[in-house]
Amino acid sequence: MQDPQTDSAPEATRFARVTVVVPTYKEVENLPFLIDRVAKVRREHELDLDMIVVDDDSRDGSVELVAARPEPWVQLVTRTADRGLSPSVLDGMGRAQGDVLVCMDADLSHPPEAIPAMLHKLQEGADFVIGSRYVKGGSTSDDWGFLRWLNSRIATLLARPLTNARDPMAGFFAFRRSTFLAGRDFNPVGYKIGLEFIVKCECERVVEVPIHFEDRQLGKSKLTFRQQLLYIKHLRRLYNFKFGGWSQLAQFLTVGGLGTVVNLALLTLFLHVQVPPRPAVALAIVLSMFFNFVLNRRFSFGESRKESWIRQFLGFMSACSIGALINYAVTVLLMGKAFALRPQFAALVGIATATAFNFVASRYLVFRVSHIRPAAMRLRRDKSPRKNP
Ligand code: GDD
Ligand code: MN
Repeated sequence: MQDPQTDSAPEATRFARVTVVVPTYKEVENLPFLIDRVAKVRREHELDLDMIVVDDDSRDGSVELVAARPEPWVQLVTRTADRGLSPSVLDGMGRAQGDVLVCMDADLSHPPEAIPAMLHKLQEGADFVIGSRYVKGGSTSDDWGFLRWLNSRIATLLARPLTNARDPMAGFFAFRRSTFLAGRDFNPVGYKIGLEFIVKCECERVVEVPIHFEDRQLGKSKLTFRQQLLYIKHLRRLYNFKFGGWSQLAQFLTVGGLGTVVNLALLTLFLHVQVPPRPAVALAIVLSMFFNFVLNRRFSFGESRKESWIRQFLGFMSACSIGALINYAVTVLLMGKAFALRPQFAALVGIATATAFNFVASRYLVFRVSHIRPAAMRLRRDKSPRKNP
């Protein structure tokens, strides 16, 4: 037993209570081992720790198993609606009473023995502590295939603008309940609930404690390809949350770049099949505008997708037409006597001005919903029945 320490840290800074939230789906084989190991940590470190197993109605005997266990500090919650790992974790966190919330998997990939070190980092002032595979001293089981490794690395890289953590994908983390309660707009899709908390609770000091990530021995992984795709969707939401308009602008510019390629490709195609040049140019413009519209509606301004698409389409076409006129006017002006720029430079400035106009018009007029009522949007989408912290 190593506590209590004799250093200057006053007793009051110790966390009165810790709640471990464990999302499960068909983990009955692993639960006994998990509970045993957590019990040992709890005993040896004299932690006031309770555990909530948040089970998505596995019907595999998990309920009976937990009921038959001698530990009163373990409870199992059965969920029947809004299934999924992230909603389960949110559900569990909403019920938890601990001053510190820990989240971990049930399959023993995450060593409960790391919890005391994680708590210690919180006491030292961290906002969010990750049980990390990718910091010095951390590791993963070797039988991870190359593809899963690559996948994890790419996913991590994409999260880089959101956090400096080396292992932001981890499902093993700890933070204060007050931090959780200060978070807003939780709306995760897929698996990366830790990343969701880092971003939406605006955690500044994210600290990592090295762990050995053990490959699961029993039962099956639930990480499907669908979940991987959902990660992209989740990332976009997080970028929008953290960078707001800048994230939308980046997407808008990407779409614009792609639209240019589409325009040129179509034009080439039309000319190739002997469409006369003028109709070819006009058709390529209209079709690429349509392409841009679809992508902007789906991505750059995806939050307003619930609105009437006809209204948005007409709005977008009008905005782009005005943009084209602005482009023309600016280019002609800059080429004229007063400025006498080379036509190419004049055209570049014209394009930049028109793009800025298009973006502002699209964001504030055409696809405006998401900016005026973000809270309302969230309520409509987030169907999970819970949480009155
Ligand atoms: N309630 C609930 N509902 N729990 C679920 C669900 C679900 O739909 N899907 C999975 N779980 C539980 C599992 O029972 C397990 O306890 C935990 O979530 C992780 O699921 P695994 O199937 O073991 O996922 P993994 O090992 O592929 O992914 C882990 O590593 C990733 C990083 O490589 C998880 O820790 C991820 O969070 C992490 O991103
Ligand atoms: Mn696992």
